Amino acid sequence: MSAPHATHSRFDGLPDSPFPRLNALIEGVQPGMDPIIMSLGEPQHPFPDFITRTIVENAQSFGKYPPIIGTPEFRASVAGWLGRRYDIADAIGPGKPLDPDTQILPVNGTREALFNAALVATPSMKAATRPAILMPNPFYQCYAAAALAAGADPVYVAAIAANGFMPDFAGLPDMLLARTAMIYVCSPANPQGSVASLAYLKELLTLARLHGILLAVDECYADIYDRDKPAGALQAALELDGTLDNLIVFHSLSKRSSLPGLRSGFCAGDKSFMARFRNFRNIAAPQVPMPLMAASAAAWNEDTHAADNRTLYRRKIDMAERTLGNRFSFYRPAGGFFLWLDVGDGERAAYDLWAKGGVKVLPGAYLSRDNSGLAGDTDESNNPGTAYIRVALVESEAKTQTALTRMAEIL
Ligand SMILES: Cc1ncc(COP(=O)(O)O)c(C=O)c1O
Repeated sequence: MSAPHATHSRFDGLPDSPFPRLNALIEGVQPGMDPIIMSLGEPQHPFPDFITRTIVENAQSFGKYPPIIGTPEFRASVAGWLGRRYDIADAIGPGKPLDPDTQILPVNGTREALFNAALVATPSMKAATRPAILMPNPFYQCYAAAALAAGADPVYVAAIAANGFMPDFAGLPDMLLARTAMIYVCSPANPQGSVASLAYLKELLTLARLHGILLAVDECYADIYDRDKPAGALQAALELDGTLDNLIVFHSLSKRSSLPGLRSGFCAGDKSFMARFRNFRNIAAPQVPMPLMAASAAAWNEDTHAADNRTLYRRKIDMAERTLGNRFSFYRPAGGFFLWLDVGDGERAAYDLWAKGGVKVLPGAYLSRDNSGLAGDTDESNNPGTAYIRVALVESEAKTQTALTRMAEIL
């Protein structure tokens, strides 16, 4: 008799990551021209010189275990950036709504923190039943893994053109909201580049408070925007009642400073949640190494490189607008660096672009789900990503222009 596999079914509902799925789609297909990779949202712009210098200057502290709460310098730099970015400096400090020493935590890239927060936010039962975690559809795939790991039902709420690509959580049945432990929302959104208005964030936070839900706002693209600075959930909370109750926000240097390999971000929010999260993280989560924390502090302290980065993305969006015009329902994303193009059949388009033009893009369906995730809903026609491709504008301007020209010719 063979031994039982040391595995269980909790993650059966999790499809493969979008990138192996894309590789399977084009397996064995030679690229029609020299390859240009626009599938992966990995920033390729140069990061600032002071990063390497600061890591070298602080290399001695690789010999120490880093504190989970980071250094006072790190927390002060994050507090300074939040104050400048959202014009909320008055609300930050000891005894104020956002006390950096107790309500800001460094994270080893926001992905782990987005995941781990669900474990701490989710009770075993809510409203006397299995809890739910709500998320947009399409979405950053980590949210669904987090919900499953936390023992919650992931519920996928359509973020489509008709609702400005921001999910209508308030329209969900009260019975579902009552058992919801956490809501993920992403603004600027990956993949659609839509931005939540201050009014939307205020309404959502009010809803979360009404139902005892933790609102988790993924703002890792906050510093990459087209015309207007996207509003932040901290601003919404402060305007509502001056507290950060029921709110946690996530920010990253991966996009702002083109440092995806640094694995550095932070989260901030609700005083009592942050205390519980800190205790959990102190036992179970990865710390940010001290030299990387010093480099991160330097990055949050400096805004010029982020502005230059933003300008470079903007130029590539201009390029896309010129090259694609009003085809594929093109619109300028208000934030982030993705194009979300309606090509009719995203898988077909991704295949053709690779086979004929060597351009690798992601079929939208790999970022979204066929149904709501609720028991009994098997309606595959609900998949809001099927018609789309996601195009990451992370390459150089020259390569981006070449890829866009090929796209316009092939599709
Ligand atoms: C929407 C969204 N959230 C979170 C992340 C995680 O970023 P990081 O872990 O590099 O901070 C990403 C990365 O691609 C993302 O697109």
